[in-house]
Amino acid sequence: MSVHTQSSRMTTTKVRQMKQNGEKIAMLTSYDYTLARLVDEAGVEIILVGDSASNVVCGNQYTLPITMDEMIFLTKGVVRAAQHSLVVVDMPFGSYQVSEEEAVRNAVRILKESGADAVKIEGGEEVLPAIRHMIKVGIPVCGHLGLTPQSVNQFGGYGLRAKQEDEAAKLLKDAKLLDEAGCFAIVLEKIPAALAAKVTKSVSAATIGIGAGNATDGQVLVLHDMLGLNNGFKPKFLRHFAEMADEVHQAVDAYVNAVKDSSFPNQDEQY
Ligand code: KIV
Repeated sequence: MSVHTQSSRMTTTKVRQMKQNGEKIAMLTSYDYTLARLVDEAGVEIILVGDSASNVVCGNQYTLPITMDEMIFLTKGVVRAAQHSLVVVDMPFGSYQVSEEEAVRNAVRILKESGADAVKIEGGEEVLPAIRHMIKVGIPVCGHLGLTPQSVNQFGGYGLRAKQEDEAAKLLKDAKLLDEAGCFAIVLEKIPAALAAKVTKSVSAATIGIGAGNATDGQVLVLHDMLGLNNGFKPKFLRHFAEMADEVHQAVDAYVNAVKDSSFPNQDEQY
């Protein structure tokens, strides 16, 4: 049953309005038609086809290996499912860092071929020319600051970012630059809550936090993580809203047993 109150689709303009009205924004990742349909029906305003698909869907250790073609393939299914939610697609590593022209060409391609509404790009000042150019040609952009997993090799891990004053000051400056460039939203990942609150007050773009406390304009989680499908993964910021790994194990065990003892299919389950 849908909890969306309006039949119309979410837009980047509405996301900005939600911030102005003090309405919290719910964002979740999805990578396939079936789960995206449930997420959309449940009233999530933004579905992110994150490059976390590299980990969650493909089993890679990092987000770096996923390609444009793979992101486009996954996003098409999500777009078919989304009746209400805004669909944002992550630009994969290497698709926007080389040059401004290549970044815009790839952003155009990913939106054209996948049908997504907007792109998300990791980084601040370094990627600003590409972001400015995209917005100039009509491509809505969501920024991403703090822990930016595509830079894991530079950071040397997935620890808390912007603890030190200089990094916090750079993040605040980057957020303001992204805001001035016209980003409609900025993901703030794994940074101190007080810094996320300061950024939120300083920009007109909607801030969407993950491990960034409660003062951001919205929250995002990786769907498989919050469903408890990845039961070995439980960092401090993550809440399991379900324990689906246990449920899947139980269901599959029951199926295997029913096949082995010939109780499945029964009389009512055959033609
Ligand atoms: O790729 C992803 O899922 C993300 C979220 C964690 C914000 O970037």
